[in-house]
This record gives sequence, structure tokens and C-alpha cells, in this order.
Amino acid sequence: MSLLHTQGLTKQFGGLVAVDEVSFAVDSGETRAVIGPNGAGKSTLINCITGALDPTAGSVEFDGDDITDRSPHETVQSGISKSFQTASIFPTMTVRENVQIAALASEHGSFRFDFLNRLSGFDGVHETTDRMLESVELLGDADVEAGSLPYGDKRRLEIAIALASEPKLLLMDEPTAGMSPDETAATVDLVEQLQDELDLTILIVEHDMEIIFQIADRILVLNRGGVIADGTPTAVQDSEAVQEAYLGGVEL
Ligand SMILES: Nc1ncnc2c1ncn2[C@@H]1O[C@H](COP(=O)(O)OP(=O)(O)O)[C@@H](O)[C@H]1O
Ligand SMILES: [Mg+2]
Repeated sequence: MSLLHTQGLTKQFGGLVAVDEVSFAVDSGETRAVIGPNGAGKSTLINCITGALDPTAGSVEFDGDDITDRSPHETVQSGISKSFQTASIFPTMTVRENVQIAALASEHGSFRFDFLNRLSGFDGVHETTDRMLESVELLGDADVEAGSLPYGDKRRLEIAIALASEPKLLLMDEPTAGMSPDETAATVDLVEQLQDELDLTILIVEHDMEIIFQIADRILVLNRGGVIADGTPTAVQDSEAVQEAYLGGVEL
């Protein structure tokens, strides 16, 4: 069954059509990838889904509801969470407090600065927080100041923050960007582990082909805003349109 579905989704910036009538679906429980050359419209597509950008035309349906016009805050409440917004980390707070705030914000709808003082009343939040920290293997660093974590651990914390709202769909835009090969491998392991352990549906944008072919169930390929292929990794790899789009670029 499809959890997310876009129909003719289009985003224009002035005369530029960044996303051009994109229709695709994400099924419950699958890891869905979006690939395409730089500037293909991948981030714009994701931002139209989260509500960070207003699409020019088309629609987004999530979990049976039309969410096309919802704000980013409303799409989080609907069950869509996006990871890897570095700005989401409060560096002077501990790892645990960062996740607690996200869990509380999702439960109570708005951010309040007195949250941490009132935490003792929220057992559910403590439980969710520890479970998410364990999922990303940061429970041992729970009391460390978030700003002092190594880069790779910060990205894992961002995943825990995104998971704190217990989303039905996790969006990731280039989660391994800027990572060392070791950190990249650890992140790929983590995504595979999240697939196994949590009942999570993942929509991931990634430029690293090796990673995509390793973790994705189905791949949507964009070029200049439009869909040029959509299918299993094998089908996408064999697509002539995809090979042309990447000619001279990434080797498939
Ligand atoms: N806010 C914006 N204003 C104007 N043009 C934009 C904006 N965001 C993206 N674009 C343009 O839209 C196209 C798609 O960008 P983007 O979605 O970031 O591509 P990708 O994530 O695939 O690299 C690019 O040509 C980019 O320059
Ligand atoms: Mg991008």
C-alpha cells in the first residue's frame, strides 16, 4: 500500500521548472531513493513534500490525506520527519536534551523554553528518547554536550531528533554528505539497522550510487526536474535514459 503519493508535483522558480510534473509513490515499509545529477530537483521535491516550499502545481497525498498545502510543522504532526538539518541541534544542550525537546515538541505542538524544567512529568518522553538514542547508538553519550560530538555522531543525533516525533516516514537528504568513508559506512549500517528494527518507511536522496544500490528497494531518477526512470535498482541501472543522464559523470 502506498503511504506517500505525489501527482503531477511541480515547482517553478521564476522561469525555471525545478520539479516538473513528478508523480511517484512510496510504499509502507520500503526504502525509496531519489537520485539524479546536481540540480535535478531532488531537494526541491523533498521540500515540496515537507511543506518547506509551496508547489506550483500538483498534489501530495500522505496516509490517505491531501497534505499539499500543509506547513512544515503540520507535516511533522502528520507523521513526516526530515533528518539532516544541522540547525536542528542545540550545541550547548546534552545529547539527551536535544532528543527530549524534539519528542516534546512533537507531542505538544509547539516549542516551549520551559520544557526541560517540566520534564519530570513526561514519562513517555523519557522512554521515547532513550529508545531513539539506543537506535542510533548514542545512549552512552546521552549526557555529553551535543556540540562536542564528532561530525558523524552529530548526524546520528540528527536522525534521533528526526525519529523523536515517531514518524511514519523519515526523509533524508544526502545523509552522507561531508562524511569520511568510515562515517559513511557507519551511516549506511545505521539506515539498514533502522529499516530492520523500526517499522519505518524511508525516502532518501543520495548521490552516492553504491549506497543507493545497497539500501534502496526502488529508485526514482530525476533529471532537469522530470522523472526519467522509476523502478528497482536493477531496472534503473539498465535504463538508457539514466545512463545518458550520468554520461561522463557517475559510473553506474
Ligand atoms: N530557492 C530557490 N530559488 C531559485 N532556484 C532554486 C531554488 N532552490 C533550487 N533552485 C534551483 O532549482 C534547481 C533544482 O535544485 P535542487 O532541488 O536543489 O537540486 P538537487 O537537490 O537535485 O541538486 C536548480 O537549478 C537550483 O538552482
Ligand atoms: Mg539537493
